[in-house]
Amino acid sequence: MKKLNGLLLTAFMLFALAACGSQGNQDTPVNDEPAVQQPAASVGDSNVLIVYFSVMEDDGVDTVGGASRVAVNGELMGNNEYIAALIQQETGGDLFRIETQQEYPTTHKPLLEFAHQEGNENARPALATELADLENYDTIFLGYPIWNADLPMSVYTFLESYDFSGKTIVPFTVHGGSGFAGTIQVIASLEPNATVVEDGLSISRNNVSDVQSDVTAWVEGLNR
Ligand SMILES: Cc1cc2nc3c(=O)[nH]c(=O)nc-3n(C[C@H](O)[C@H](O)[C@H](O)COP(=O)(O)O)c2cc1C
Repeated sequence: MKKLNGLLLTAFMLFALAACGSQGNQDTPVNDEPAVQQPAASVGDSNVLIVYFSVMEDDGVDTVGGASRVAVNGELMGNNEYIAALIQQETGGDLFRIETQQEYPTTHKPLLEFAHQEGNENARPALATELADLENYDTIFLGYPIWNADLPMSVYTFLESYDFSGKTIVPFTVHGGSGFAGTIQVIASLEPNATVVEDGLSISRNNVSDVQSDVTAWVEGLNR
Protein backbone atom coordinates (compact mmCIF):
# COMPACT_ATOMS: atom_id res chain seq x y z
CA MET A 1 0.00 0.00 0.00
CA LYS A 2 2.85 2.33 1.03
CA LYS A 3 4.58 1.51 -2.26
CA LEU A 4 1.42 2.26 -4.24
CA ASN A 5 1.06 5.60 -2.47
CA GLY A 6 4.71 6.42 -3.27
CA LEU A 7 4.18 5.56 -6.94
CA LEU A 8 1.04 7.66 -7.14
CA LEU A 9 2.86 10.61 -5.49
CA THR A 10 5.78 10.32 -7.93
CA ALA A 11 3.38 10.18 -10.90
CA PHE A 12 1.54 13.26 -9.61
CA MET A 13 4.80 15.23 -9.14
CA LEU A 14 5.98 14.31 -12.65
CA PHE A 15 2.62 15.46 -14.05
CA ALA A 16 2.77 18.74 -12.06
CA LEU A 17 6.35 19.42 -13.24
CA ALA A 18 5.37 18.79 -16.86
CA ALA A 19 2.42 21.21 -16.51
CA CYS A 20 4.71 23.91 -15.03
CA GLY A 21 7.18 23.36 -17.82
CA SER A 22 4.66 23.90 -20.58
CA GLN A 23 3.29 27.01 -18.79
CA GLY A 24 6.83 28.35 -18.46
CA ASN A 25 7.53 27.83 -22.16
CA GLN A 26 4.52 29.91 -23.06
CA ASP A 27 5.41 32.87 -20.84
CA THR A 28 9.18 32.99 -20.87
CA PRO A 29 10.66 34.92 -23.78
CA VAL A 30 13.33 32.98 -25.67
CA ASN A 31 16.00 35.64 -25.15
CA ASP A 32 15.57 35.52 -21.34
CA GLU A 33 14.64 39.23 -21.23
CA PRO A 34 11.76 40.00 -18.82
CA ALA A 35 8.50 40.59 -20.74
CA VAL A 36 7.93 44.11 -19.48
CA GLN A 37 5.44 46.33 -21.27
CA GLN A 38 6.61 49.94 -21.44
CA PRO A 39 4.08 52.21 -19.71
CA ALA A 40 2.55 54.83 -22.01
CA ALA A 41 3.61 57.76 -19.87
CA SER A 42 6.74 56.30 -18.19
CA VAL A 43 5.15 57.25 -14.90
CA GLY A 44 7.28 56.32 -11.91
CA ASP A 45 10.52 56.86 -13.78
CA SER A 46 12.89 59.71 -13.10
CA ASN A 47 12.08 61.23 -16.49
CA VAL A 48 8.76 62.68 -15.31
CA LEU A 49 8.41 66.43 -14.96
CA ILE A 50 5.38 68.11 -13.41
CA VAL A 51 4.93 71.67 -14.66
CA TYR A 52 2.19 73.82 -13.20
CA PHE A 53 0.83 77.34 -13.06
CA SER A 54 -1.30 78.32 -10.10
CA VAL A 55 -2.26 81.58 -8.39
CA MET A 56 -3.33 81.09 -4.81
CA GLU A 57 -5.92 83.64 -3.84
CA ASP A 58 -5.70 84.91 -0.30
CA ASP A 59 -9.15 86.38 0.01
CA GLY A 60 -12.55 84.64 -0.12
CA VAL A 61 -13.82 82.06 2.30
CA ASP A 62 -12.78 78.71 0.81
CA THR A 63 -12.65 76.89 -2.52
CA VAL A 64 -16.36 76.10 -2.43
CA GLY A 65 -17.03 79.82 -1.93
CA GLY A 66 -14.95 80.55 -5.03
CA ALA A 67 -11.48 81.22 -3.62
CA SER A 68 -8.72 79.32 -5.38
CA ARG A 69 -6.77 77.70 -2.62
CA VAL A 70 -6.71 74.52 -0.62
CA ALA A 71 -5.50 73.88 2.93
CA VAL A 72 -3.35 70.77 3.33
CA ASN A 73 -2.06 69.98 6.82
CA GLY A 74 -2.23 73.66 7.68
CA GLU A 75 -0.40 74.71 4.49
CA LEU A 76 -2.26 76.87 1.96
CA MET A 77 -1.73 76.05 -1.71
CA GLY A 78 -3.22 77.02 -5.05
CA ASN A 79 -5.57 74.36 -6.42
CA ASN A 80 -3.34 73.27 -9.30
CA GLU A 81 -0.28 73.54 -7.08
CA TYR A 82 -1.89 70.97 -4.78
CA ILE A 83 -2.68 68.53 -7.60
CA ALA A 84 0.87 68.95 -8.92
CA ALA A 85 2.16 67.99 -5.46
CA LEU A 86 -0.05 64.87 -5.43
CA ILE A 87 1.19 63.82 -8.88
CA GLN A 88 4.74 64.40 -7.68
CA GLN A 89 4.11 62.05 -4.73
CA GLU A 90 2.69 59.42 -7.08
CA THR A 91 5.34 59.59 -9.79
CA GLY A 92 8.47 60.76 -7.98
CA GLY A 93 8.90 63.27 -10.82
CA ASP A 94 10.43 66.74 -10.59
CA LEU A 95 8.29 69.83 -10.01
CA PHE A 96 8.53 73.04 -12.02
CA ARG A 97 6.40 76.09 -11.29
CA ILE A 98 5.67 78.57 -14.07
CA GLU A 99 6.14 82.04 -12.60
CA THR A 100 5.90 85.39 -14.30
CA GLN A 101 8.15 88.41 -13.89
CA GLN A 102 5.14 90.54 -13.10
CA GLU A 103 3.36 88.86 -10.23
CA TYR A 104 -0.39 88.34 -10.44
CA PRO A 105 -2.78 89.94 -7.93
CA THR A 106 -3.69 87.42 -5.25
CA THR A 107 -7.15 88.79 -4.48
CA HIS A 108 -10.06 87.64 -6.56
CA LYS A 109 -11.47 90.74 -8.27
CA PRO A 110 -8.12 92.34 -9.18
CA LEU A 111 -6.94 88.94 -10.49
CA LEU A 112 -10.05 88.60 -12.66
CA GLU A 113 -9.51 92.07 -14.12
CA PHE A 114 -5.78 91.55 -14.66
CA ALA A 115 -6.30 88.19 -16.39
CA HIS A 116 -9.12 89.55 -18.48
CA GLN A 117 -6.94 92.35 -19.80
CA GLU A 118 -4.06 89.96 -20.48
CA GLY A 119 -6.43 87.73 -22.45
CA ASN A 120 -7.86 90.64 -24.42
CA GLU A 121 -4.36 91.76 -25.36
CA ASN A 122 -3.34 88.18 -26.21
CA ALA A 123 -0.33 88.99 -24.02
CA ARG A 124 2.72 86.77 -23.51
CA PRO A 125 3.84 87.63 -19.96
CA ALA A 126 7.60 87.22 -19.48
CA LEU A 127 8.53 84.24 -17.34
CA ALA A 128 10.60 84.42 -14.17
CA THR A 129 11.41 80.70 -14.01
CA GLU A 130 13.47 78.87 -16.62
CA LEU A 131 13.46 75.18 -17.45
CA ALA A 132 17.10 74.28 -17.98
CA ASP A 133 17.00 70.54 -18.58
CA LEU A 134 13.93 69.63 -20.64
CA GLU A 135 15.99 67.04 -22.53
CA ASN A 136 16.08 64.92 -19.35
CA TYR A 137 12.33 64.36 -19.42
CA ASP A 138 10.03 62.27 -21.63
CA THR A 139 6.73 62.82 -19.84
CA ILE A 140 5.54 66.26 -18.84
CA PHE A 141 2.44 66.66 -16.71
CA LEU A 142 1.11 70.16 -17.34
CA GLY A 143 -1.35 71.70 -14.88
CA TYR A 144 -3.12 75.05 -15.00
CA PRO A 145 -6.37 76.78 -14.02
CA ILE A 146 -8.90 77.63 -16.71
CA TRP A 147 -8.97 81.38 -17.10
CA ASN A 148 -11.72 82.87 -19.24
CA ALA A 149 -12.34 79.52 -20.92
CA ASP A 150 -8.72 79.36 -22.03
CA LEU A 151 -5.15 78.65 -20.90
CA PRO A 152 -3.69 81.42 -18.75
CA MET A 153 -1.47 83.57 -20.98
CA SER A 154 1.58 82.55 -18.92
CA VAL A 155 1.03 78.97 -20.11
CA TYR A 156 1.05 80.18 -23.73
CA THR A 157 4.41 81.85 -23.03
CA PHE A 158 5.69 78.63 -21.49
CA LEU A 159 4.56 76.38 -24.35
CA GLU A 160 5.95 78.77 -26.96
CA SER A 161 9.30 78.98 -25.14
CA TYR A 162 10.20 75.29 -25.36
CA ASP A 163 10.19 72.54 -27.94
CA PHE A 164 8.32 69.47 -26.71
CA SER A 165 8.86 67.42 -29.89
CA GLY A 166 8.86 63.69 -29.15
CA LYS A 167 7.65 64.18 -25.59
CA THR A 168 4.35 63.19 -23.98
CA ILE A 169 2.32 65.99 -22.41
CA VAL A 170 -0.29 64.96 -19.84
CA PRO A 171 -2.64 67.87 -19.05
CA PHE A 172 -4.47 68.39 -15.76
CA THR A 173 -6.64 71.22 -14.53
CA VAL A 174 -8.62 72.37 -11.54
CA HIS A 175 -11.35 74.59 -12.93
CA GLY A 176 -14.45 76.47 -11.79
CA GLY A 177 -16.94 74.54 -13.92
CA SER A 178 -15.72 74.70 -17.54
CA GLY A 179 -13.71 71.48 -17.58
CA PHE A 180 -10.76 71.72 -19.95
CA ALA A 181 -12.69 74.16 -22.17
CA GLY A 182 -10.84 73.07 -25.32
CA THR A 183 -7.38 73.74 -23.86
CA ILE A 184 -6.07 70.24 -24.64
CA GLN A 185 -6.60 70.97 -28.34
CA VAL A 186 -4.85 74.33 -27.88
CA ILE A 187 -1.85 72.56 -26.33
CA ALA A 188 -1.81 70.03 -29.19
CA SER A 189 -1.83 72.83 -31.76
CA LEU A 190 1.01 74.65 -29.97
CA GLU A 191 3.04 71.42 -29.71
CA PRO A 192 2.30 69.55 -32.95
CA ASN A 193 5.28 67.21 -32.53
CA ALA A 194 4.42 66.13 -29.00
CA THR A 195 1.97 63.43 -27.96
CA VAL A 196 -0.73 65.22 -25.99
CA VAL A 197 -2.79 62.84 -23.84
CA GLU A 198 -6.47 63.53 -24.54
CA ASP A 199 -7.98 62.22 -21.34
CA GLY A 200 -6.21 64.56 -18.97
CA LEU A 201 -7.33 64.99 -15.37
CA SER A 202 -10.10 67.56 -14.93
CA ILE A 203 -11.16 68.44 -11.38
CA SER A 204 -13.78 70.90 -10.21
CA ARG A 205 -12.38 73.25 -7.59
CA ASN A 206 -15.38 72.28 -5.43
CA ASN A 207 -13.89 68.79 -5.04
CA VAL A 208 -10.22 69.61 -4.89
CA SER A 209 -9.67 68.84 -1.21
CA ASP A 210 -11.10 65.35 -1.66
CA VAL A 211 -9.37 63.95 -4.72
CA GLN A 212 -6.22 62.24 -3.54
CA SER A 213 -7.48 58.72 -4.36
CA ASP A 214 -8.77 59.91 -7.76
CA VAL A 215 -5.35 61.32 -8.60
CA THR A 216 -3.69 58.06 -7.54
CA ALA A 217 -6.09 55.99 -9.69
CA TRP A 218 -5.64 58.30 -12.68
CA VAL A 219 -1.84 58.15 -12.53
CA GLU A 220 -1.97 54.35 -12.19
CA GLY A 221 -4.38 54.23 -15.16
CA LEU A 222 -1.82 56.02 -17.35
CA ASN A 223 0.47 53.02 -17.04
CA ARG A 224 -2.11 50.60 -18.43
C1 LIG B 1 -9.02 85.18 -13.85
C2 LIG B 1 -9.82 83.94 -13.65
C3 LIG B 1 -10.62 83.47 -14.66
C4 LIG B 1 -11.32 82.26 -14.51
N1 LIG B 1 -12.07 81.79 -15.54
C5 LIG B 1 -12.64 80.54 -15.42
C6 LIG B 1 -13.36 79.95 -16.52
O1 LIG B 1 -13.48 80.52 -17.59
N2 LIG B 1 -13.87 78.72 -16.34
C7 LIG B 1 -13.75 78.05 -15.17
O2 LIG B 1 -14.21 76.93 -15.06
N3 LIG B 1 -13.07 78.57 -14.11
C8 LIG B 1 -12.53 79.80 -14.22
N4 LIG B 1 -11.84 80.32 -13.16
C9 LIG B 1 -11.71 79.54 -11.93
C10 LIG B 1 -10.35 78.84 -11.83
O3 LIG B 1 -10.12 78.05 -12.98
C11 LIG B 1 -10.30 77.96 -10.58
O4 LIG B 1 -10.59 78.72 -9.44
C12 LIG B 1 -8.95 77.26 -10.44
O5 LIG B 1 -9.12 76.16 -9.58
C13 LIG B 1 -7.83 78.12 -9.91
O6 LIG B 1 -6.66 77.35 -9.82
P1 LIG B 1 -5.36 77.81 -9.03
O7 LIG B 1 -5.72 77.95 -7.57
O8 LIG B 1 -4.40 76.70 -9.25
O9 LIG B 1 -4.91 79.10 -9.65
C14 LIG B 1 -11.20 81.56 -13.28
C15 LIG B 1 -10.42 82.08 -12.25
C16 LIG B 1 -9.74 83.24 -12.42
C17 LIG B 1 -8.89 83.77 -11.30
